[in-house]
Amino acid sequence: MAEYVIHTKHVEETMYVGEQLAKVAMAGDVFALDGDLGAGKTHFSKGFAKGLHVEGNVNSPTFTIIKHYEGRLPLYHIDAYRLDDGEGEEIGLFDVIQGEGVSLIEWASIIEDELPDHTIRISLTRVSDEERQLQFKGVDERFEQVLKGFGQ
Ligand SMILES: Nc1ncnc2c1ncn2[C@@H]1O[C@H](COP(=O)(O)OP(=O)(O)OP(=O)(O)O)[C@@H](O)[C@H]1O
Ligand SMILES: [Mg+2]
Repeated sequence: MAEYVIHTKHVEETMYVGEQLAKVAMAGDVFALDGDLGAGKTHFSKGFAKGLHVEGNVNSPTFTIIKHYEGRLPLYHIDAYRLDDGEGEEIGLFDVIQGEGVSLIEWASIIEDELPDHTIRISLTRVSDEERQLQFKGVDERFEQVLKGFGQ
């Protein structure tokens, strides 16, 4: 599995990484975000939404599970926190993943078994109050393309 690690020094930088990633996102991409409470998953998502030209604020989708936004591509912001493995079908996860949009899934490891092979995983880890480690992982050739588009 290919891997790429960066560190951000403050929240705006994490949002900026999300924004840059969105610029190279394509229909069908699935981005799986994991990390402890307060790691920065939602702020990363806010930056991502900005990069996709979504208007308005993107918040944590905890109570709705899937939130749909329109930008350059449809954005499906998903929070798997309250799900159990196997509940993807129930919430329409497969329709979303197979559709024309981009999926951004917080707490994705909870539904790990239901994620497609081309999923790009982003793990956020708190290093200090203001520093986070962002680890990107992928197996598919799509991951190589994303990293290239990302300037790597
Ligand atoms: N480098 C950084 N990157 C991201 N967030 C940071 C950074 N430094 C500090 N923070 C702060 O950490 C918090 C991250 O909160 P956020 O809601 O994005 O986390 P989360 O992973 O979505 O948490 P939860 O699982 O509770 O929803 C914010 O208060 C943000 O200001
Ligand atoms: Mg969150």
